[in-house]
Amino acid sequence: MDKLLIKGNSKLSGEVKISGSKNASLPILFATLLTDEKIILQNIPNLRDINTTVQLLEYLGKKVEKIGDEIIITQTNQIKTEAPYELVKQMRASVLVIGPVLAKYGKVKVSLPGGCAIGSRPIDIHLCGFQKLCASVDLSNGYVKLKVIGQKLCGTTIILDYPSVGATENLIMAAVLADGITILENTAKEPEIDDLCNFLNKIGAKISGIGTSIIKIVGVKVSALHSTTYKIMPDRIEAGTFMIASAVSGTEILIKNINYFHLDILISKMHLAGSKIEKIDGNNIKVFGNENIKPVSVETLPYPGFPTDMQAQWTFFMTQAKGNSLVTETVFENRFMHIPELQRMGAKLTIKGNTVFIEGCSKLTGAQVMATDLRASAALVLAGLVTEGETQISRIYHLDRGYENIEKKLNNLGANIKRIKE
Ligand code: UD1
Repeated sequence: MDKLLIKGNSKLSGEVKISGSKNASLPILFATLLTDEKIILQNIPNLRDINTTVQLLEYLGKKVEKIGDEIIITQTNQIKTEAPYELVKQMRASVLVIGPVLAKYGKVKVSLPGGCAIGSRPIDIHLCGFQKLCASVDLSNGYVKLKVIGQKLCGTTIILDYPSVGATENLIMAAVLADGITILENTAKEPEIDDLCNFLNKIGAKISGIGTSIIKIVGVKVSALHSTTYKIMPDRIEAGTFMIASAVSGTEILIKNINYFHLDILISKMHLAGSKIEKIDGNNIKVFGNENIKPVSVETLPYPGFPTDMQAQWTFFMTQAKGNSLVTETVFENRFMHIPELQRMGAKLTIKGNTVFIEGCSKLTGAQVMATDLRASAALVLAGLVTEGETQISRIYHLDRGYENIEKKLNNLGANIKRIKE
């Protein structure tokens, strides 16, 4: 397992290019299962989760070719309708195989993903939606088996109990090939869902209400779906992570290939914290070093609220503020594993329920810490940038799931980070 060694206190400057979005790429890769036609996806980040998805698509029968940041997907084989434990256990998003395979092939069997470090993460909202679309659901031996009752999934109205990102994506993909009209209400509104819908419409689906909490899908025949080339949106969480790196350790950093509007809430909270952010245009911003960070409390919420995927990084940011603040996590039940690690580096943090109380002005010192999940790892890297001395982060395979070349990108800005193979 690789480790990162970070020598802190470098001043960062220059420019960094943000990669394509992981969370948009994953559902779009799975959505290619809806058609036999050739699909070319561009701006795909080079990440472990993408490789896991590619392996799963290949296992199921797709031919996948990777050329730089482009992925070309064709189909030569009969598609299998079963996703085994060995592949699903590596990545929870594998459950997104259900929607497209069920809709196209009438049945699917997927290993239940189980819990993960940030909570139990059930898939009840997905399954309840599939049942409403006329599928039977059978849970046994660690697998969930779904079958279409009748000829095709049937369009209907579904009100989601909670705006789950994954359930919204899974049900949209299934409804594309259902008979008649499906209305999904109380859907998640994350920009990655818009990207999925835009991709689906580009291959011939009929989806409206994109970006709202009521999405209408008029079912089409498989023969209506066609080949396309589609460019994935920028990764707003990678962009946000670099924005915080720039504020705590930077002088002036140009962050390229972003979507300014997707970062609305983060930009407004960073403004409140006293950070200077200059909009160059819709795709590029400059973030300046902030010597006088003000405390700003946040609560994570579904989009357009403050993203849970930026919670760990924000918690670290506030340890550097001149004053105290609170961070409340409402999306996941157990997303504070970075707290004990930040405490080992000298951060003054107290957890009460789903809120962490942060004492500002923490002078962090290098320590040996452990990455526990993807975004927790990012917070530890940010902390390593500002510490006196050396920080050693182990288990960074978590980081490799979601950040493309993070140490290379930070080193290009002037950081001192080494990857050590163990
Ligand atoms: C996606 C993102 C993840 C992000 C999260 C919230 C991907 C690949 N991952 O995860 O990075 O942190 O959205 O923005 O896009 N829930 C249920 N039952 C369900 C489904 C979800 O109770 O059937 C709960 C979950 O346990 C969690 C909450 O709903 O507490 C949000 O989960 P969800 O929006 O589904 O997140 P994911 O799609 O798993």
